[in-house]
Amino acid sequence: MKGIVLAGGTGTRLYPLTHATSKHLLPIYDKPMIFYPIETLVKAGIDEILVVVGGPHAGHYVKVLKNGEDFGLKHLEYAYQEETGGISQAIALAEDFADNGPITVILGDNTTDANIKKEVQAFKAGATIFIKKVPDPERFGVPVFDSKDKSKIINIEEKPSKPQSSFAVTGVYIYDHHCFNYIRQLEPSGRGELEVTDLNNLYIKKGQMRWAELKGFWSDAGTFESLYYSTKYWAEKS
Ligand code: G1P
Repeated sequence: MKGIVLAGGTGTRLYPLTHATSKHLLPIYDKPMIFYPIETLVKAGIDEILVVVGGPHAGHYVKVLKNGEDFGLKHLEYAYQEETGGISQAIALAEDFADNGPITVILGDNTTDANIKKEVQAFKAGATIFIKKVPDPERFGVPVFDSKDKSKIINIEEKPSKPQSSFAVTGVYIYDHHCFNYIRQLEPSGRGELEVTDLNNLYIKKGQMRWAELKGFWSDAGTFESLYYSTKYWAEKS
């Protein structure tokens, strides 16, 4: 299994912090934000990672992550996302790197102490998403469960004003190599992006989606509130 960390985008929600560097290099307690998702992949047994960078400070990543040896990586590669075309567009850049194998994708601003090794090792085909109960699901992709079979997700709604469950679809996903063909079928959303939620809904439609609940802490860190919340958690934990 290979891993992809998505660290593109301009981080406008964190201005003025992101005028001078990328969002994913801002500190969460004693480490740059991107260390956390990389460590989540390493803990799951992944030692070949592609980091998709973008925005005006894309060059900063090499200075911080170097060749990945400090994380115990066998191979660290970078891809450059020229546009801010969404998460699915960033995943598409990993097609050659994936080399027809499965990939575990994690957003560069997601931190968790959950261990996803079991799901990574058991993965065979289709897609697996990781969900987490949150107090503010309207900020995220939200799963809709089958009213008869509560263990089945029948749809995911991106930032719904009336969430149909209290779960967030976290930014941790496992995909088989078909994801690249599915992404080619996607149309840009209202905000002009190729949405990861649309990719996930394609897998659901094809009956190829599984899900697992992240056990432990999980948060994004793309807003001042969530950046503070994550920093507080990791500082107290240490
Ligand atoms: C993105 C996804 C959303 C997901 C979230 C997790 O949202 O679009 O489905 O729940 O990441 O962090 P964004 O951070 O782009 O608002």
